[in-house]
Amino acid sequence: MTWLTADPERPADVRVELTARQQKIAVPGGRAVEGYTLNGQSPGPEIRARQGELVEVEFVNEWVAAGATLHWHGIDVPNAADGVAGITQDAVPVGGRFVYRFEATDAGTYWYHSHQVSHEQVRRGMLGAIVIEPAEASIGSDSDVVALLHIYDGQHTLNGRAEDQRVAARPGATVRVRVVNTDNGTATLWSAAPFRVLAIDGTEVNAPSDVKNRRVLLAAGGRVDIAVQAPPDGATRLHLGGARSILVGDPEASEPPAPQPSDTLDLLAYGDPAPLGFDPSSPDRTFDYVIGRRFGIIDGRPGNFWTINGRMFPDIPMFHVREGDIVVIRIVNDTSETHPMHLHGHHAVVLSRDGVAASGSPWWTDTLDVFPGETYEVAFVADNPGIWSDHCHNLPHAVDGLIAHVMYDGVSTPFTINGDTGNHPE
Ligand code: C2O
Ligand code: CU
Repeated sequence: MTWLTADPERPADVRVELTARQQKIAVPGGRAVEGYTLNGQSPGPEIRARQGELVEVEFVNEWVAAGATLHWHGIDVPNAADGVAGITQDAVPVGGRFVYRFEATDAGTYWYHSHQVSHEQVRRGMLGAIVIEPAEASIGSDSDVVALLHIYDGQHTLNGRAEDQRVAARPGATVRVRVVNTDNGTATLWSAAPFRVLAIDGTEVNAPSDVKNRRVLLAAGGRVDIAVQAPPDGATRLHLGGARSILVGDPEASEPPAPQPSDTLDLLAYGDPAPLGFDPSSPDRTFDYVIGRRFGIIDGRPGNFWTINGRMFPDIPMFHVREGDIVVIRIVNDTSETHPMHLHGHHAVVLSRDGVAASGSPWWTDTLDVFPGETYEVAFVADNPGIWSDHCHNLPHAVDGLIAHVMYDGVSTPFTINGDTGNHPE
């Protein structure tokens, strides 16, 4: 897979160097914590590119003893730039570098994070936001701001600060709030004022309507872009994950918190239908991804481990596909916990949940919360050759075996997990 790269001759339009260190992170409004920084900060620098540009990130591991990588969560990069230790590269050792190159093909809100010992390195801050701005000015908002949620050692933060954030906007102006959930659990978003969900996991919703008296649930690893309108006077408060809010409008105004609505916006029926661009009704491949749990031993460690189709990691067969295939995956959650399922390198569209067909805007997702007892059918086009992780983004679950891979015919990897290499992607 090492040949699956962006055009090596093409010069970069956006160049960023990110240096990883193990050090104390300042948390304004809270207390400093031990963790991992990029260029001395966590979250790392917000990267912005315009659709069509070539992004080049030079990653330097200055002092992360276990090694580190960067994965571009939600961006359908060429496989060699996917950043998964032991699958698409070796973890970058202390003193090492790795260059990631990809075209910013799809506008949207994404994030990046380490994919080496990720349950530890992500929790402790080796992450940041990346936004791909549309080639043409976007509709539905006058300006935009990232709202990255992360819990640092019990402290709920918004863009790295343990405090609320204000966005100045004139009355009637609409701000696109790009919410990124970098934690291991579902985040809950709501507002007393009506708002719209402009995009889910980087893809625009077709004809989003006003959401009133409903909360939005955002999967761990997922993103939603929310249009918040500044009121005629004062500010609109958007609650982000229960502990933090963003206030849009008059920067001096105060706006009291609003109670959380008990009804949830159903994305299966939100917005208007539109063509998918492919026909999922007669797929080339259909796979089951049934999540269960049972007692077992992994690497000599006994415990209650997750199973996929009744099997335990690493004894989980690959999902084999061929380039051009239309693939349907049926995800079944036979456990009592929620699993935010994340497929690398592709966006899948939701076909149905518990037998109810999707009826709204095409719901394209890369990180889908599957709640206890639920069954989802999703479909994607196999248009990005490589070996791609398809795992739970509650990262402690991934460590305990909730990982499978989609593998294209004719693609293999020279990298290995565990053993002497020190690659531990989860
Ligand atoms: Cu956000 Cu496999 O990861
Ligand atoms: Cu899980």
